[in-house]
Amino acid sequence: MTDETSNAGLDRRSFLALGAAATGAAALGTAPAVAQADGRKKKPSPKDPFTLGIASGDPTDTSVILWTRLAPVPLSLDGGMGKKGDKDVKYEIARDEKFSSIVQQGSAPAPAAHGHSVHLDVQNLEPNTEYFYRFKLGRHVTETGRTRTTPAPGQSVDSFVFGQTSCANWQSGTYQLYDDLAAQAPDYWLALGDYIYEYANKGYLRPDQTKPSRKIPWKKEPQTLQEYRRQYGLYRSDPSLQRLHLTAPYSVIWDDHEVDNNFTGNKGGGDGQKDRVDFAKRRAAGFQAFWENHAIRLPDGPPQAGASSMRIYRRVDWGSLASFLLLDGRQYRTDQPGDDTPQDFGRWVEGMFDPAGTMLGQEQEAWLEAEFARDPARWTYIAQQTVVSSLNGSVGALVPSISPVLANGVFNYDAWDGYWPARTRLTTAIRNAQLRNTVVLTGDFHTNLAFHLLDDWPDPRDATSPENMNEAVVNWQGTKIGTEVCAGAISSPTFFGDPLLGALAPLVRERTPWVEYAEYDNNGYVLHTVTPDQDRAEYRVCLAGVSPKQAAGAPRTDSTVVINDGVPGVSDIIPIIPG
Ligand SMILES: [Fe+2]
Repeated sequence: MTDETSNAGLDRRSFLALGAAATGAAALGTAPAVAQADGRKKKPSPKDPFTLGIASGDPTDTSVILWTRLAPVPLSLDGGMGKKGDKDVKYEIARDEKFSSIVQQGSAPAPAAHGHSVHLDVQNLEPNTEYFYRFKLGRHVTETGRTRTTPAPGQSVDSFVFGQTSCANWQSGTYQLYDDLAAQAPDYWLALGDYIYEYANKGYLRPDQTKPSRKIPWKKEPQTLQEYRRQYGLYRSDPSLQRLHLTAPYSVIWDDHEVDNNFTGNKGGGDGQKDRVDFAKRRAAGFQAFWENHAIRLPDGPPQAGASSMRIYRRVDWGSLASFLLLDGRQYRTDQPGDDTPQDFGRWVEGMFDPAGTMLGQEQEAWLEAEFARDPARWTYIAQQTVVSSLNGSVGALVPSISPVLANGVFNYDAWDGYWPARTRLTTAIRNAQLRNTVVLTGDFHTNLAFHLLDDWPDPRDATSPENMNEAVVNWQGTKIGTEVCAGAISSPTFFGDPLLGALAPLVRERTPWVEYAEYDNNGYVLHTVTPDQDRAEYRVCLAGVSPKQAAGAPRTDSTVVINDGVPGVSDIIPIIPG
């Protein structure tokens, strides 16, 4: 670690221990708060406009986005802002948590047209430096957030720590894994989609749940801008999530549930709910609310109201040590193959091999290739939504309880398996770029997994029977071009928790040679400690449907997957999982 980094680490921990709320209150008077860094809940004072907390995101070496949204009544359609017009909030940025050394202050707009959200793009900061910030409106002061800039271009750092999260369904668990990540005091973290789910009351529960872990007090899924704002109001009111945002800057990409389950392009996912608005308008509302509720720097600037598209794919650099290429695998994709089946999964279908099928769209594919060619860092992270590696699609045939249902294998049409030629274009681009280390970071699948990333996988069309396909998979010798790290879900039901699919789980690991690590039973996230020599990806797991006071609900490390510099694929697993 450099001195600067280790100092920042000490500061972060003492910051967490002291409790940011208390220090903020001492300096500026009243500091009503929902979440405190020490874990206690504070009752919000009446009309506190900062019930959704604060956040910082998309850091560069000289800037960071500081965010909040005014919503004194977060679960109402207008956030409690009624017909209030544009507002301004005061802000302060300091080098210390007591704000004795303020480096910038002023006022930032919270326009009514943006749901009274603030996106303050702070400029002229020092590289690789920790800062503290807060907002103020009238007598209300937010808690104190910690943020930081990235190292300068080309600057080397000895180490940094980032979190990888996804899939935080409200009703199937609580957010102790967000708390756990906050306690690790990361430098940065990624939210890889399904930060919210669109479901209404009882919309998505675990198979063993009879009632939601936490209720959603409305019966209809959001379809209008105000309804999406309210959905974010609910999610962002969570104290654990707010505490995590207080500790570190993040970058977010969306997946399907930011709008509608399994939507593609301009086509809804078919959720059985009555369409009250045209899907294109619904998508625009979901996109707008996403921007309003995140500390995100859009490459094309703030969206126009009702804009039909919004570019979120972008790049974040961490000096010469790492670069993050953040992708959008949802907005530009073609429809999933196999739409004629009621399931997301099924046997292979011709549509999986349609060369016109795309996950990223042509422009984004070209952008990605250009980014590969531009000044590669030691570690190149491709942060995206769905599983890239193929899963052994034939194992279903070997399980008697499954074979009648999924006769000839099981492919996930919504993941890259459903977009085979597009995936080949991706792996070809990775192989041709000859990057030093490529690591794909994945969400969506609600399973703790690590893969050797190969350049190709066995083609199910070549198999004459499921058994024959299974043989081809077991004996497959693909070329390793990188590593794929798939995080478990923060609180959504585990994928293999489904009784039918659960029978597949052991086979996926045992019979799929490119699956190096798999943990099926728990929720999770991944904590990466990155040095020039290694990425140590620690899988933090627990059952999010169980109280953290019980052992099963308490976050712990299941295994650490080690990726060595210059060696594509998983180098080591600590501890080694038997079998
Ligand atoms: Fe999800």
